Amino acid sequence: MTFDSKNRYRNIKDAHADELENIEKIVNSDHWRQKFHIMPKTGLLNDPNGLAYFNGKYHIFFQWFPFGPVHGLKHWAHYVSEDMVSWYEDKRILIPEEWYESHGAFSGSAVIKDNQLYLMYTGNVRTKDNRRKSYQCLARLEEKKIVKDPDNPVINSIPDGFTNEFRDPKIFQKDGSFYLVIGGQKENMTGSIAVYQSKDLHNWNFIGELKTGLENFGYMWECPDYFELNDTGILLFCPQGLKPNKDCFNNIYQSGYIAGDKLNLDTLEFRHSDFTELDRGFDFYAPQTFEKDGRRLMIGWMGLPEIEYPSEKNFWVHCLTIPRELKLMNNRLVQSPASELKKLRKEKETFSENLHKQKIKLPISGTVYELLAEFSDFSGDFGLELRTGPGDEKTVLWYDYKNSKIILDRTNSGEKFGLDYGSLRMVHFIAPVIKFHIFMDSSSVEIFINDGKETFTARIFPGENSSGISVFSTGTAKINLSKWNLA
Ligand code: FRU
Repeated sequence: MTFDSKNRYRNIKDAHADELENIEKIVNSDHWRQKFHIMPKTGLLNDPNGLAYFNGKYHIFFQWFPFGPVHGLKHWAHYVSEDMVSWYEDKRILIPEEWYESHGAFSGSAVIKDNQLYLMYTGNVRTKDNRRKSYQCLARLEEKKIVKDPDNPVINSIPDGFTNEFRDPKIFQKDGSFYLVIGGQKENMTGSIAVYQSKDLHNWNFIGELKTGLENFGYMWECPDYFELNDTGILLFCPQGLKPNKDCFNNIYQSGYIAGDKLNLDTLEFRHSDFTELDRGFDFYAPQTFEKDGRRLMIGWMGLPEIEYPSEKNFWVHCLTIPRELKLMNNRLVQSPASELKKLRKEKETFSENLHKQKIKLPISGTVYELLAEFSDFSGDFGLELRTGPGDEKTVLWYDYKNSKIILDRTNSGEKFGLDYGSLRMVHFIAPVIKFHIFMDSSSVEIFINDGKETFTARIFPGENSSGISVFSTGTAKINLSKWNLA
């Protein structure tokens, strides 16, 4: 099926009888369907949107085009959970039907006001001559459906000096006001963030541009998110147009943060440290955070735009990451898998050995599991081969002892994709004990290094039977390993 401008901009209400059910049959025959990650029933998922804990339930929305694995007319799909582990489809989805969202209900966020859940999002419009227009819109979750505000678009212009690449309102509350950070592009083709203030969610004032020390840092900033942890202000955003720099910025677009003093909302000055990538892997973008009981939780899109992924032939593509808790350590963010995920653990298997210049294929195997491997007393390279299978298939996570680097190698992970951006990712890392904490699903791997000081996130597309696990070392290394199958 090819998608021209006509079938790319259909909304779900225009689906023919059985059309989506038939697509679902193809999708569900795919062995790369994930077991514990949020993914689209059919079609394409991208950014997580509207994360919130509301009336005893977690809510997550995501950018969704139901009819196929392309960036078509974006809806907001909706899932709810009581524990962030089991997610159920919620039929109250955001369907773009109004003039101000004719080409998609783009990304945005949620806020609770007067015990109601409100959503702020970008209405995306393409004019006849294909120019973009961008409107900021308000909606409310009601008992039976999502209701769009009659005053939409609540922000219908772009501030002076910005282009129409202007989107992704993230809302936060401070001192009795609501604030929005909106990602954008300046007329001089640099990325930037606009800040708005409101008392009532309806009337918004543009209060200025966020003043960072990053004057010329890519041509567009998408998906900003501002929050405070302890007394530190943190701004997440996704700059586009950065050049690769050694081990950094090797994906098509980046996702990272700057941390510093709390944002001064009078002057919009933000004093901060250098930009740090949130993830060292291949497939991580457009994360969003929310707060629950003092915990700051983050979920990202496990994918990137403009790259073809192997599952597209089965009419679906992409998924979200697991929820991760963020904490600050020496002014840097550390990420740990939300503790709720322990609920997924089934039987535990362990393995310990003093390795000496050898590779051992473990009696333990699997395709959907959590694995914790601790290496100590090492005098050479060491690591793990995961999802090993016929044809020397393997995903290798290893420590390069001489160069003190952790390396994720997906050169032989299975079906190849995204090769324009290379098949190795690495980060400089020094510690006497190296811990790999791994969440493996049918077609992804998320790796937390030493309690989340670094993370690597990647999609992989191995053969159905590639389930082996090996450990190796070129010198000595002591390994302690635990593995739980996940259900
Ligand atoms: C990021 C993004 C956002 C936009 C959305 C559209 O992946 O480009 O800037 O709102 O995706 O789906």
